Amino acid sequence: MTAPQLPADHPLVTDDATRSTARSALITALRGGTPDRRPVWFMRQAGRSLPEYRQLREGISMLDSCLQPELASEITLQPVRRHDVDAGIFFSDIVIPLRLAEVGVDIVPGVGPVLDAPVRTAADVAALPELTEESLEPIREAVRLTVAELGSTPLIGFAGAPFTLAAYMVEGKPSRDHLGPRTMMHAEPDTWNALASWAARASGHFLRAQIEAGASAGQLFDSWAGSLSLGDYLTHVQPHSAAAFAQVADLAGPDGVPLIHFGTGTSEILPAMRDAGASAVGVDYRLPLDEAHRRLTATPGADGRGAVPLQGNIDPALLEAGWDVLEAHVREVIEAGSVAPGHVLNLGHGVPPHTDPTVLTRVVELIHSVAP
Ligand code: CP3
Repeated sequence: MTAPQLPADHPLVTDDATRSTARSALITALRGGTPDRRPVWFMRQAGRSLPEYRQLREGISMLDSCLQPELASEITLQPVRRHDVDAGIFFSDIVIPLRLAEVGVDIVPGVGPVLDAPVRTAADVAALPELTEESLEPIREAVRLTVAELGSTPLIGFAGAPFTLAAYMVEGKPSRDHLGPRTMMHAEPDTWNALASWAARASGHFLRAQIEAGASAGQLFDSWAGSLSLGDYLTHVQPHSAAAFAQVADLAGPDGVPLIHFGTGTSEILPAMRDAGASAVGVDYRLPLDEAHRRLTATPGADGRGAVPLQGNIDPALLEAGWDVLEAHVREVIEAGSVAPGHVLNLGHGVPPHTDPTVLTRVVELIHSVAP
Protein backbone atom coordinates (compact mmCIF):
# COMPACT_ATOMS: atom_id res chain seq x y z
CA MET A 1 0.00 0.00 0.00
CA THR A 2 1.48 3.36 -1.00
CA ALA A 3 1.29 6.37 1.33
CA PRO A 4 -1.84 8.48 0.82
CA GLN A 5 -1.39 11.37 -1.58
CA LEU A 6 -2.72 13.96 0.87
CA PRO A 7 -1.35 17.52 0.83
CA ALA A 8 1.45 17.97 3.44
CA ASP A 9 -0.67 20.38 5.52
CA HIS A 10 -3.70 18.08 5.56
CA PRO A 11 -5.00 17.51 9.13
CA LEU A 12 -4.34 13.76 8.90
CA VAL A 13 -0.66 14.16 8.04
CA THR A 14 0.38 17.53 9.50
CA ASP A 15 2.99 17.61 12.31
CA ASP A 16 1.16 20.52 13.93
CA ALA A 17 -0.47 18.96 17.03
CA THR A 18 -3.09 21.72 17.28
CA ARG A 19 -4.40 20.80 13.81
CA SER A 20 -3.70 17.08 13.67
CA THR A 21 -6.72 14.75 13.54
CA ALA A 22 -4.68 11.54 13.22
CA ARG A 23 -5.11 10.61 16.90
CA SER A 24 -8.69 11.83 17.25
CA ALA A 25 -11.26 9.42 18.63
CA LEU A 26 -13.11 9.23 15.29
CA ILE A 27 -10.09 8.39 13.16
CA THR A 28 -8.69 5.97 15.75
CA ALA A 29 -11.97 4.01 15.89
CA LEU A 30 -12.35 4.02 12.10
CA ARG A 31 -8.83 2.59 11.84
CA GLY A 32 -9.71 -0.19 14.28
CA GLY A 33 -7.76 1.17 17.25
CA THR A 34 -8.89 2.00 20.79
CA PRO A 35 -9.75 5.71 21.11
CA ASP A 36 -9.48 7.89 24.26
CA ARG A 37 -13.24 8.20 24.29
CA ARG A 38 -16.07 6.66 22.31
CA PRO A 39 -16.55 8.75 19.18
CA VAL A 40 -20.04 9.98 18.29
CA TRP A 41 -21.54 12.27 15.66
CA PHE A 42 -25.02 12.47 14.19
CA MET A 43 -26.12 12.41 10.58
CA ARG A 44 -28.04 15.69 10.03
CA GLN A 45 -26.54 17.16 13.20
CA ALA A 46 -26.28 20.45 11.29
CA GLY A 47 -29.80 21.50 10.52
CA ARG A 48 -33.31 22.17 11.59
CA SER A 49 -33.12 20.70 15.10
CA LEU A 50 -30.94 23.71 16.04
CA PRO A 51 -32.55 27.13 16.63
CA GLU A 52 -29.22 28.80 15.78
CA TYR A 53 -29.35 27.03 12.39
CA ARG A 54 -32.91 28.15 11.68
CA GLN A 55 -31.88 31.70 12.51
CA LEU A 56 -28.89 31.68 10.13
CA ARG A 57 -30.96 30.15 7.34
CA GLU A 58 -33.68 32.83 7.46
CA GLY A 59 -34.27 34.27 3.99
CA ILE A 60 -31.78 32.07 2.17
CA SER A 61 -32.52 28.86 0.31
CA MET A 62 -30.95 25.56 1.33
CA LEU A 63 -28.74 25.15 -1.75
CA ASP A 64 -27.71 28.82 -1.82
CA SER A 65 -26.61 28.55 1.82
CA CYS A 66 -24.40 25.58 0.92
CA LEU A 67 -22.56 27.70 -1.65
CA GLN A 68 -21.73 30.59 0.69
CA PRO A 69 -18.50 29.39 2.29
CA GLU A 70 -18.73 31.44 5.53
CA LEU A 71 -22.31 30.37 6.09
CA ALA A 72 -21.76 26.69 5.26
CA SER A 73 -18.74 26.68 7.56
CA GLU A 74 -20.58 28.31 10.46
CA ILE A 75 -23.51 25.88 10.13
CA THR A 76 -21.06 22.95 10.11
CA LEU A 77 -19.47 24.23 13.34
CA GLN A 78 -22.70 24.92 15.27
CA PRO A 79 -23.43 21.33 16.37
CA VAL A 80 -19.76 20.66 17.19
CA ARG A 81 -19.74 23.59 19.62
CA ARG A 82 -23.13 22.78 21.08
CA HIS A 83 -22.92 18.99 21.50
CA ASP A 84 -19.16 18.29 21.77
CA VAL A 85 -19.50 15.64 19.07
CA ASP A 86 -16.32 13.99 17.78
CA ALA A 87 -16.65 15.18 14.19
CA GLY A 88 -18.17 17.87 12.06
CA ILE A 89 -20.17 16.74 9.02
CA PHE A 90 -19.74 19.21 6.21
CA PHE A 91 -22.91 21.23 5.67
CA SER A 92 -23.89 20.65 2.09
CA ASP A 93 -26.21 18.31 0.22
CA ILE A 94 -25.94 15.33 -2.07
CA VAL A 95 -27.50 17.37 -4.92
CA ILE A 96 -24.92 20.18 -4.71
CA PRO A 97 -22.80 18.54 -7.47
CA LEU A 98 -25.87 18.79 -9.72
CA ARG A 99 -26.30 22.47 -8.93
CA LEU A 100 -22.56 23.07 -9.53
CA ALA A 101 -22.78 21.29 -12.89
CA GLU A 102 -25.70 23.62 -13.71
CA VAL A 103 -28.33 20.92 -13.72
CA GLY A 104 -31.57 22.65 -12.66
CA VAL A 105 -32.32 21.46 -9.11
CA ASP A 106 -33.76 22.90 -5.94
CA ILE A 107 -34.59 21.62 -2.49
CA VAL A 108 -38.25 22.24 -1.81
CA PRO A 109 -38.81 22.65 1.95
CA GLY A 110 -40.63 19.65 3.38
CA VAL A 111 -40.30 17.76 0.08
CA GLY A 112 -36.62 17.38 -0.80
CA PRO A 113 -34.65 17.59 -4.05
CA VAL A 114 -36.72 18.48 -7.15
CA LEU A 115 -35.23 18.74 -10.67
CA ASP A 116 -36.47 21.13 -13.36
CA ALA A 117 -36.50 18.17 -15.77
CA PRO A 118 -36.13 14.48 -14.89
CA VAL A 119 -33.31 12.58 -16.64
CA ARG A 120 -34.98 9.61 -18.35
CA THR A 121 -33.62 8.98 -21.86
CA ALA A 122 -30.22 8.33 -23.40
CA ALA A 123 -30.39 11.84 -24.89
CA ASP A 124 -31.15 13.34 -21.45
CA VAL A 125 -28.07 11.60 -20.03
CA ALA A 126 -25.85 12.59 -22.97
CA ALA A 127 -26.87 16.24 -22.44
CA LEU A 128 -25.75 16.31 -18.78
CA PRO A 129 -22.96 18.87 -18.31
CA GLU A 130 -19.77 17.64 -16.58
CA LEU A 131 -18.90 19.04 -13.17
CA THR A 132 -15.81 21.23 -13.49
CA GLU A 133 -12.97 21.54 -10.99
CA GLU A 134 -13.40 25.35 -10.84
CA SER A 135 -17.06 25.09 -9.87
CA LEU A 136 -16.01 23.23 -6.70
CA GLU A 137 -14.10 26.26 -5.34
CA PRO A 138 -16.88 27.36 -2.91
CA ILE A 139 -16.82 23.84 -1.48
CA ARG A 140 -13.05 23.87 -1.02
CA GLU A 141 -13.20 27.31 0.55
CA ALA A 142 -15.94 26.29 3.02
CA VAL A 143 -13.93 23.19 4.01
CA ARG A 144 -10.74 25.24 4.52
CA LEU A 145 -12.57 27.75 6.75
CA THR A 146 -14.17 24.93 8.74
CA VAL A 147 -11.02 22.89 9.24
CA ALA A 148 -9.16 26.00 10.44
CA GLU A 149 -11.75 26.37 13.23
CA LEU A 150 -12.08 22.68 14.09
CA GLY A 151 -8.45 22.19 15.10
CA SER A 152 -7.94 18.56 16.08
CA THR A 153 -11.63 17.61 15.62
CA PRO A 154 -12.01 15.90 12.25
CA LEU A 155 -14.33 17.07 9.50
CA ILE A 156 -16.21 14.37 7.59
CA GLY A 157 -16.75 15.05 3.90
CA PHE A 158 -19.51 13.25 2.03
CA ALA A 159 -21.24 12.63 -1.25
CA GLY A 160 -24.34 10.86 -2.44
CA ALA A 161 -23.75 7.41 -3.88
CA PRO A 162 -24.54 7.04 -7.59
CA PHE A 163 -27.79 5.10 -7.04
CA THR A 164 -29.28 7.57 -4.58
CA LEU A 165 -28.25 10.54 -6.69
CA ALA A 166 -29.48 8.94 -9.93
CA ALA A 167 -32.73 7.97 -8.21
CA TYR A 168 -33.51 11.67 -7.66
CA MET A 169 -32.46 12.45 -11.23
CA VAL A 170 -34.68 9.81 -12.85
CA GLU A 171 -37.73 10.46 -10.66
CA GLY A 172 -37.14 14.21 -10.69
CA LYS A 173 -38.26 14.26 -7.05
CA PRO A 174 -38.22 12.10 -3.91
CA SER A 175 -40.01 8.78 -4.26
CA ARG A 176 -40.81 5.90 -1.96
CA ASP A 177 -40.12 2.86 -4.16
CA HIS A 178 -37.61 4.24 -6.69
CA LEU A 179 -39.43 2.44 -9.51
CA GLY A 180 -38.00 4.74 -12.20
CA PRO A 181 -34.30 3.97 -11.67
CA ARG A 182 -35.01 0.32 -10.86
CA THR A 183 -36.94 -0.09 -14.11
CA MET A 184 -34.28 1.78 -16.09
CA MET A 185 -31.43 -0.50 -14.96
CA HIS A 186 -33.26 -3.47 -16.51
CA ALA A 187 -35.09 -1.90 -19.46
CA GLU A 188 -32.33 0.47 -20.61
CA PRO A 189 -29.12 -0.81 -19.02
CA ASP A 190 -26.89 1.33 -21.26
CA THR A 191 -28.75 4.50 -20.33
CA TRP A 192 -28.65 3.48 -16.67
CA ASN A 193 -24.91 2.80 -16.80
CA ALA A 194 -24.25 6.13 -18.49
CA LEU A 195 -26.32 7.98 -15.89
CA ALA A 196 -24.83 6.13 -12.91
CA SER A 197 -21.33 6.73 -14.35
CA TRP A 198 -22.07 10.44 -14.58
CA ALA A 199 -23.30 10.43 -10.98
CA ALA A 200 -20.22 8.48 -9.83
CA ARG A 201 -17.91 11.04 -11.47
CA ALA A 202 -19.83 13.98 -9.98
CA SER A 203 -19.94 12.45 -6.49
CA GLY A 204 -16.32 11.34 -6.64
CA HIS A 205 -15.20 14.86 -7.62
CA PHE A 206 -17.31 16.43 -4.88
CA LEU A 207 -15.89 14.09 -2.23
CA ARG A 208 -12.33 14.50 -3.49
CA ALA A 209 -12.55 18.29 -3.31
CA GLN A 210 -13.60 18.08 0.36
CA ILE A 211 -10.84 15.63 1.29
CA GLU A 212 -8.11 17.57 -0.53
CA ALA A 213 -9.25 20.77 1.21
CA GLY A 214 -8.99 19.14 4.65
CA ALA A 215 -11.75 16.61 5.42
CA SER A 216 -10.29 13.72 7.45
CA ALA A 217 -12.88 11.06 6.57
CA GLY A 218 -15.40 10.55 3.79
CA GLN A 219 -18.89 9.10 3.81
CA LEU A 220 -20.83 7.91 0.79
CA PHE A 221 -24.58 8.13 1.42
CA ASP A 222 -26.54 5.48 -0.47
CA SER A 223 -29.65 6.37 1.46
CA TRP A 224 -32.06 4.52 -0.83
CA ALA A 225 -29.96 1.43 -1.67
CA GLY A 226 -32.25 -0.56 0.62
CA SER A 227 -34.86 -0.58 -2.14
CA LEU A 228 -32.60 -2.86 -4.22
CA SER A 229 -32.29 -6.64 -4.21
CA LEU A 230 -28.79 -7.97 -3.60
CA GLY A 231 -28.64 -9.11 -7.23
CA ASP A 232 -29.57 -5.70 -8.60
CA TYR A 233 -27.17 -4.02 -6.20
CA LEU A 234 -24.27 -6.22 -7.29
CA THR A 235 -24.96 -5.94 -11.02
CA HIS A 236 -26.23 -2.42 -11.52
CA VAL A 237 -25.06 -0.33 -8.57
CA GLN A 238 -21.97 -1.63 -6.78
CA PRO A 239 -19.63 -1.05 -9.77
CA HIS A 240 -20.68 2.61 -9.85
CA SER A 241 -20.27 3.08 -6.10
CA ALA A 242 -16.86 1.43 -6.47
CA ALA A 243 -16.04 3.95 -9.22
CA ALA A 244 -16.96 6.83 -6.87
CA PHE A 245 -14.74 5.42 -4.10
CA ALA A 246 -11.96 4.76 -6.63
CA GLN A 247 -11.73 8.49 -7.27
CA VAL A 248 -10.47 9.01 -3.70
CA ALA A 249 -8.67 5.67 -3.23
CA ASP A 250 -5.24 7.32 -3.49
CA LEU A 251 -6.18 9.53 -0.50
CA ALA A 252 -7.40 6.57 1.57
CA GLY A 253 -5.77 3.37 2.89
CA PRO A 254 -4.48 2.61 6.42
CA ASP A 255 -2.76 6.01 6.84
CA GLY A 256 -5.22 7.97 4.74
CA VAL A 257 -8.85 9.00 5.06
CA PRO A 258 -11.25 6.32 6.30
CA LEU A 259 -14.19 5.83 3.92
CA ILE A 260 -17.62 5.07 5.40
CA HIS A 261 -20.48 3.64 3.33
CA PHE A 262 -24.01 4.19 4.68
CA GLY A 263 -27.52 3.42 3.53
CA THR A 264 -30.90 2.62 5.04
CA GLY A 265 -32.65 -0.74 4.77
CA THR A 266 -29.32 -2.28 3.76
CA SER A 267 -29.27 -5.30 6.09
CA GLU A 268 -29.04 -7.71 3.13
CA ILE A 269 -26.32 -5.83 1.24
CA LEU A 270 -23.84 -4.81 3.96
CA PRO A 271 -20.99 -7.04 2.70
CA ALA A 272 -21.57 -5.76 -0.85
CA MET A 273 -21.40 -2.17 0.42
CA ARG A 274 -18.10 -2.93 2.16
CA ASP A 275 -16.78 -4.48 -1.04
CA ALA A 276 -17.54 -1.34 -3.05
CA GLY A 277 -14.36 0.05 -1.45
CA ALA A 278 -15.37 1.25 2.01
CA SER A 279 -13.16 0.88 5.08
CA ALA A 280 -16.15 1.15 7.45
CA VAL A 281 -19.86 0.47 7.13
CA GLY A 282 -22.72 2.57 8.50
CA VAL A 283 -25.70 0.55 9.70
CA ASP A 284 -29.26 1.83 10.02
CA TYR A 285 -31.49 1.15 13.03
CA ARG A 286 -33.04 -2.04 11.63
CA LEU A 287 -30.16 -4.41 12.36
CA PRO A 288 -28.31 -4.76 15.71
CA LEU A 289 -24.61 -4.08 15.26
CA ASP A 290 -23.52 -7.50 16.53
CA GLU A 291 -25.65 -9.08 13.78
CA ALA A 292 -24.21 -6.67 11.18
CA HIS A 293 -20.75 -7.70 12.37
CA ARG A 294 -21.69 -11.38 12.11
CA ARG A 295 -22.92 -10.95 8.52
CA LEU A 296 -19.79 -9.08 7.46
CA THR A 297 -17.54 -11.66 9.07
CA ALA A 298 -19.44 -14.55 7.47
CA THR A 299 -19.16 -13.04 3.97
CA PRO A 300 -15.62 -11.81 3.32
CA GLY A 301 -14.89 -9.96 0.11
CA ALA A 302 -12.59 -10.99 -2.72
CA ASP A 303 -9.83 -9.07 -0.89
CA GLY A 304 -10.36 -11.30 2.18
CA ARG A 305 -11.78 -8.54 4.36
CA GLY A 306 -14.66 -9.62 6.62
CA ALA A 307 -15.29 -7.55 9.73
CA VAL A 308 -14.73 -3.80 9.42
CA PRO A 309 -15.36 -0.89 11.84
CA LEU A 310 -19.06 -0.07 12.13
CA GLN A 311 -20.98 3.16 12.53
CA GLY A 312 -24.45 3.47 14.03
CA ASN A 313 -27.15 2.83 14.98
CA ILE A 314 -29.27 4.58 17.61
CA ASP A 315 -32.91 4.55 16.49
CA PRO A 316 -33.93 8.19 15.84
CA ALA A 317 -37.45 7.30 17.01
CA LEU A 318 -36.13 6.74 20.53
CA LEU A 319 -34.79 10.30 20.83
CA GLU A 320 -38.32 11.21 21.88
CA ALA A 321 -39.14 8.10 23.89
CA GLY A 322 -38.06 9.50 27.26
CA TRP A 323 -34.61 9.45 28.81
CA ASP A 324 -34.76 6.08 30.55
CA VAL A 325 -35.79 4.25 27.38
CA LEU A 326 -33.24 6.16 25.33
CA GLU A 327 -30.40 5.57 27.79
CA ALA A 328 -31.07 1.82 27.88
CA HIS A 329 -31.12 1.75 24.07
CA VAL A 330 -27.85 3.71 23.73
CA ARG A 331 -26.18 1.31 26.17
CA GLU A 332 -27.42 -1.63 24.11
CA VAL A 333 -26.01 -0.09 20.94
CA ILE A 334 -22.64 0.42 22.67
CA GLU A 335 -22.66 -3.19 23.84
CA ALA A 336 -23.61 -4.60 20.42
CA GLY A 337 -21.02 -2.41 18.67
CA SER A 338 -18.22 -3.57 20.98
CA VAL A 339 -17.82 -6.79 18.95
CA ALA A 340 -16.72 -4.83 15.84
CA PRO A 341 -13.05 -3.92 15.25
CA GLY A 342 -14.03 -0.28 15.79
CA HIS A 343 -17.28 1.52 16.55
CA VAL A 344 -18.43 5.07 15.88
CA LEU A 345 -21.73 5.91 17.55
CA ASN A 346 -24.30 7.55 15.30
CA LEU A 347 -28.01 7.45 14.60
CA GLY A 348 -29.52 4.84 12.32
CA HIS A 349 -30.57 7.74 10.06
CA GLY A 350 -30.59 11.54 10.34
CA VAL A 351 -31.68 13.72 13.27
CA PRO A 352 -35.45 14.36 12.92
CA PRO A 353 -36.13 18.13 12.56
CA HIS A 354 -38.26 18.35 15.74
CA THR A 355 -35.63 16.70 17.97
CA ASP A 356 -34.92 18.52 21.24
CA PRO A 357 -31.21 19.38 20.84
CA THR A 358 -30.60 19.09 24.59
CA VAL A 359 -31.39 15.37 24.27
CA LEU A 360 -28.61 15.03 21.66
CA THR A 361 -26.14 16.75 23.98
CA ARG A 362 -27.13 14.36 26.78
CA VAL A 363 -26.66 11.34 24.48
CA VAL A 364 -23.14 12.56 23.67
CA GLU A 365 -22.36 12.94 27.40
CA LEU A 366 -23.66 9.44 28.07
CA ILE A 367 -21.57 7.91 25.28
CA HIS A 368 -18.45 9.75 26.43
CA SER A 369 -19.05 8.55 30.01
CA VAL A 370 -18.75 4.87 29.02
CA ALA A 371 -15.07 3.90 29.01
CA PRO A 372 -13.87 2.74 25.57
O1 CP3 B 1 -25.75 17.62 9.29
C1 CP3 B 1 -25.55 17.01 8.23
O2 CP3 B 1 -25.73 15.77 8.11
C2 CP3 B 1 -24.87 17.77 7.09
C3 CP3 B 1 -25.56 18.13 5.98
C4 CP3 B 1 -26.38 17.23 5.07
C5 CP3 B 1 -27.58 17.70 4.50
N1 CP3 B 1 -28.00 16.78 3.60
C6 CP3 B 1 -28.21 19.00 4.79
C7 CP3 B 1 -29.64 19.16 4.53
C8 CP3 B 1 -26.12 15.97 4.55
C9 CP3 B 1 -24.99 15.02 4.86
C10 CP3 B 1 -27.15 15.70 3.60
C11 CP3 B 1 -27.19 14.49 2.76
C12 CP3 B 1 -28.43 14.17 2.06
N2 CP3 B 1 -29.25 15.00 1.35
C13 CP3 B 1 -28.92 12.86 1.93
C14 CP3 B 1 -28.27 11.65 2.50
C15 CP3 B 1 -28.57 11.52 3.93
C16 CP3 B 1 -29.95 11.03 4.28
O3 CP3 B 1 -30.65 11.76 4.97
O4 CP3 B 1 -30.29 9.91 3.87
C17 CP3 B 1 -30.10 12.93 1.16
C18 CP3 B 1 -30.98 11.77 0.78
C19 CP3 B 1 -30.29 14.30 0.80
C20 CP3 B 1 -31.39 14.86 -0.04
C21 CP3 B 1 -32.21 15.78 0.80
N3 CP3 B 1 -31.83 17.07 1.12
C22 CP3 B 1 -33.45 15.52 1.46
C23 CP3 B 1 -34.23 14.23 1.37
C24 CP3 B 1 -33.78 16.67 2.18
C25 CP3 B 1 -34.95 16.89 3.13
C26 CP3 B 1 -36.06 17.70 2.57
C27 CP3 B 1 -36.91 18.34 3.63
O5 CP3 B 1 -37.00 19.56 3.63
O6 CP3 B 1 -37.47 17.61 4.47
C28 CP3 B 1 -32.77 17.61 1.95
C29 CP3 B 1 -32.68 18.97 2.51
C30 CP3 B 1 -31.63 19.17 3.53
N4 CP3 B 1 -30.34 18.77 3.43
C31 CP3 B 1 -31.79 19.84 4.76
C32 CP3 B 1 -30.55 19.87 5.39
C33 CP3 B 1 -30.18 20.52 6.68
C34 CP3 B 1 -33.10 20.46 5.25
C35 CP3 B 1 -33.39 21.71 4.47
C36 CP3 B 1 -33.53 22.95 5.29
O7 CP3 B 1 -32.99 23.07 6.42
O8 CP3 B 1 -34.15 23.89 4.77
